[in-house]
Amino acid sequence: MEFEETNEESVSDIFEKILIGSCQIKDGLKLRNLDIKNSKNVHFYKLNTDGPLSQSIDEEENIIGSQLWQLPCIEFENIWENLIYDTQLKNDVMSYVYALVHLSEKHVNSKIINVNRLILLVGPPGTGKTSLCKGLAQHLSIRLNNRYTHSVMIEINSHSLFSKWFSESGKLVQKMFDQIDDLAEDSKCMVFVLIDEVESLGMCRESSNSRAEPADAIRAVNALLTQIDRIRRRDNVLILCTSNLEDSLDRALIDRADIVKNVGEPSTLALYAMLKSCIMEMIRIGVVELKDNENIPEDIQSYDEIPSSSKTLFKIAQQSHGLSGRAISMLPTLVYSKKS
Ligand SMILES: Nc1ncnc2c1ncn2[C@@H]1O[C@H](COP(=O)(O)OP(=O)(O)OP(=O)(O)O)[C@@H](O)[C@H]1O
Ligand SMILES: [Mg+2]
Repeated sequence: MEFEETNEESVSDIFEKILIGSCQIKDGLKLRNLDIKNSKNVHFYKLNTDGPLSQSIDEEENIIGSQLWQLPCIEFENIWENLIYDTQLKNDVMSYVYALVHLSEKHVNSKIINVNRLILLVGPPGTGKTSLCKGLAQHLSIRLNNRYTHSVMIEINSHSLFSKWFSESGKLVQKMFDQIDDLAEDSKCMVFVLIDEVESLGMCRESSNSRAEPADAIRAVNALLTQIDRIRRRDNVLILCTSNLEDSLDRALIDRADIVKNVGEPSTLALYAMLKSCIMEMIRIGVVELKDNENIPEDIQSYDEIPSSSKTLFKIAQQSHGLSGRAISMLPTLVYSKKS
């Protein structure tokens, strides 16, 4: 992209949105002389709007093994920003993955420093694990766009794939990874692989003996482990796995993960922030209005900091203990349906 000296109006003609991930300028100050041309941390991108492409791994049987997303895509936009945790989870995951990718790029000797580029997120349903993976891939595809001219996400649905064709599972896992390997052959392409509910593929081999088809279950885990070991020679592949059932996962799979992060149920403060974000959205679309004396404070650390007009929301957050982020995000529709 070429830049010419330009006035403010024409900048807004070019860009749909300018997002500032982090900066050292105080809130509220105007950004003047934004040195776009020379900054390494400014990334330009266009969102892909084509939607996912279904990938078949067995033409004859018409088995759709995965969905391929060209990143960054419109469907994953703002996922990351809208995820709320009152821990450092997002920062930790992002910094770790960023470090992994950097080390890989520098061709770190993997015999000394073991880098598998495998991330495992575990935790109860609806706590944002899948969203975190998608948001992470979207952000990295943008941040790394100087080095990787394009990025894709292969979303493997292990469940649907292996429920019907379990006896073939080992072979299918291999075919799936062959496809991933083909994509990764282009060293300018960053390939994110999302294996949701990885327990259906990577179930503990000892407990597989109690299942209906133990030999096939073991074949599936073995194939997955072998393929993970094979694909790790590709610097440009990052595998993101999620699971509700950490205890059922095979030890060898957990052992291969560079990081295992626990995504727990939201705390009261996180629930408060989620409820607040739902209310703000309802205000934005004009179906909820705040009264004159009401406001919902940001970034509260405790009950005492909240003005009395907003204490009710905090009490609701306290009473919502045990609800997942998913359940909270469904609440506004439920409440609205009761009102109308
Ligand atoms: N921490 C959070 N902050 C904001 N929204 C959240 C959070 N966690 C979950 N949600 C909401 O819940 C929805 C479902 O999240 P997601 O599918 O990522 O959860 P999950 O952990 O993968 O669940 P499952 O284990 O059932 O697959 C998201 O679209 C989002 O709206
Ligand atoms: Mg999920």
